[in-house]
Amino acid sequence: MDQTANQLQDQFQQRIDLEQKIEPRDWMPEKYRQTLIRQISQHAHSEIIGMLPEGNWITRAPSLKRKAILLAKVQDEAGHGLYLYSAAETLGISRDEMYEQLHSGKAKYSSIFNYPTLSWADMGAIGWLVDGAAILNQVPLCRTSFGPYARAMVRVCKEESFHQRQGFECLLQLSRGSEVQRQMCQDAINRWWWPSLMMFGPKDDESPNSKLSMQWKIKRFSNDELRQKFVDMIAEQIKLLNMVLPDPDLTWNEQTKHYDYGAINWEEFKQVIQGNGPCNKERLEARKKAWTNGDWVREAATVHAAKQAKRKSEAQTFSAKETQ
Ligand SMILES: [Fe+2]
Ligand SMILES: [Fe+2]
Repeated sequence: MDQTANQLQDQFQQRIDLEQKIEPRDWMPEKYRQTLIRQISQHAHSEIIGMLPEGNWITRAPSLKRKAILLAKVQDEAGHGLYLYSAAETLGISRDEMYEQLHSGKAKYSSIFNYPTLSWADMGAIGWLVDGAAILNQVPLCRTSFGPYARAMVRVCKEESFHQRQGFECLLQLSRGSEVQRQMCQDAINRWWWPSLMMFGPKDDESPNSKLSMQWKIKRFSNDELRQKFVDMIAEQIKLLNMVLPDPDLTWNEQTKHYDYGAINWEEFKQVIQGNGPCNKERLEARKKAWTNGDWVREAATVHAAKQAKRKSEAQTFSAKETQ
């Protein structure tokens, strides 16, 4: 590396250490740019794919109130995806490229959305556990070093906290309902608990990108730290539901002042990430179909925009002649 490149690196790191935000036009190491493109686009894809398991229940919500809540939540997730695609675009990748990477299987998205939603209680469990895990991951991102990502996350986090509360409240009602409703609630918790723990990513010693991401303050806490926070939070909240977490090893540890928990099935995680989860195929097919079905809309929008631009420039030429 020559001297100027070294200087630029140092200045860059100094700005990060001083908690200054890095903006799209600032100099940044190529690896920083690539890491962020990967992370933000994966995040955006997760928001959009995440609409599918819940969208599945909009027509079957048990009341008008629940339908309105679920509709609003799913719509929020679409919004999150859009802010995040926009943030990623500032790093020099186009939205078409990102979609292409998703559709070809090159880009990943959160493994959790490859699990099926089998009952209404899954809507509660997703809100409480999946959005709950997302919040813990995302709150520190409001202070991430890249400006557009940090700013997008502020609004996202406000909405996520509504998502989590509606999920908990949905389960609370079921937990106070009939025996069948209670069973449905417990069954949903059983199925979503372990995949939610996997949302924090691999164990720290097996997380290759973590060290640089911490140095660049893209990440502020390690995967295991965040996972532990999540376990501590949920292990307390579940008491209010009078339900149990499906982990016989879950115990309060007086010494560490944290909950100990059982071993995570990392083989399952690997399989789902590699495309072999229960719904991977279905999710990608749904996205690809939506893309193809939207062909005529994109074409019409492009033609319309060109027509508008032409009219505008003609009007400008005309008024320029008038004033001559
Ligand atoms: Fe979201
Ligand atoms: Fe959410």
